[in-house]
This record gives sequence, C-alpha cells and structure tokens, in this order.
Amino acid sequence: MHKDVEEILVSHDEILKRTRELGQQISEDYSKENKTPLLVALLKGSIPFLSELMQNIDLDGLEFDVMDVSSYDGAESIGDIRINKDLSVSLQGVSVLLVEDIVDTGRTLSVVKKMLLNKGASDVKVVALLDKPDRRVVDIDAEYVGFTIKNEFVVGYGLDYNQKYRNLPYVGVLKKEIYEK
Ligand code: IMP
Repeated sequence: MHKDVEEILVSHDEILKRTRELGQQISEDYSKENKTPLLVALLKGSIPFLSELMQNIDLDGLEFDVMDVSSYDGAESIGDIRINKDLSVSLQGVSVLLVEDIVDTGRTLSVVKKMLLNKGASDVKVVALLDKPDRRVVDIDAEYVGFTIKNEFVVGYGLDYNQKYRNLPYVGVLKKEIYEK
C-alpha cells in the first residue's frame, strides 16, 4: 500500500469484478431498447474506469469521446463549469452514457447532463465508479454505481489529489496529514 494511503476501500480485484457486472447490466439494458450509447468520459479521473468498462460492454458500434470540464475556482463557483476540452462529435439524437469517476456534491453531473441535453442528446444516463451520497447538494443520482463509499477523500484508480495518485490500482483513503499540511 502507498505510504500516503490510510486504508484501501476498494481493491483492484473488486473494481474489476464490479466493472464486469456493470458492463453486463449496461449491455442488457441498452440491448433491450435496441440502442448503443456513446460513452462520454470526463477527464482525467474516469479514464481507468472507462478503459475497463468499455471492454465489458457488448454492444455493436460502441464509441467513446472525452470531455474536460472544471469548476470555476472560488466560493462563487456553484453550478458553473468551464469547458477545457469539448466533445468532437455531434450529439444530435444520440443516447449518451456519461462515465464518471465519483459523484460527490452532484454539481458537475447536473451541469454536464444539462449541457449534453442542450447539445441534442436524446437521453443521458450516468455510470459512476464511486458514489458519496452523504455529500450531495444537488438532487441527482447515477443510474449505475460501482461502489457507495463513506464521506472520505479518496485517491487511486484515476482519482487524484493535486494530480497525484491516479496510478494506484485501488481506491484508498488519503491520509489527512497529506492535505492538511
Ligand atoms: P461534484 O461536482 O462535487 O460531484 O464533484 C465531482 C468531481 O470532484 C469528481 O469527478 C472528482 O474529480 C472530484 N472529487 C470528488 N470527491 C473526490 C475524492 O474523494 N477524491 C478525488 N476527487 C474527488
């Protein structure tokens, strides 16, 4: 275990197993509706999850795109996001499955979801590796969730603190002394 990690919350094996289940569920649900969604991943945290998830989705013509958004800094930022990198495909009439690393307050999700619908997406669903429901301030939930976790700051499997720890193969609680220094 990395020296800055207090505790492993979700092991690599658990992530792989759960992602397989999510992929199967998503494949079944969309097959029933005769649809293939466009996977839209939010950079950078959801990349390892996107990579594993798409290999477990068995739907013809599956494509993905990436988008980079960040919150405006400061206390006045509520609900506002800046688009650093937009999608490169048209969303007109497209079913979108948004791939997120973690749903925390729900602000990012709610703004991005509205934005994708405004761009013409026919429907937008969300798959998130992690969910921290205790922190929610916007009433929004992901349709597919890997793991519901307690209210702790976690890193690994794409999740960062100051851009670090994304490479850890598991999800772990970051030691408080690291961010309270
Ligand atoms: P929300 O808009 O508050 O739901 O924030 C979602 C984003 O905040 C995620 O995509 C992450 O980038 C970041 N985030 C929230 N909680 C954590 C955490 O525990 N560790 C690392 N990043 C987090």
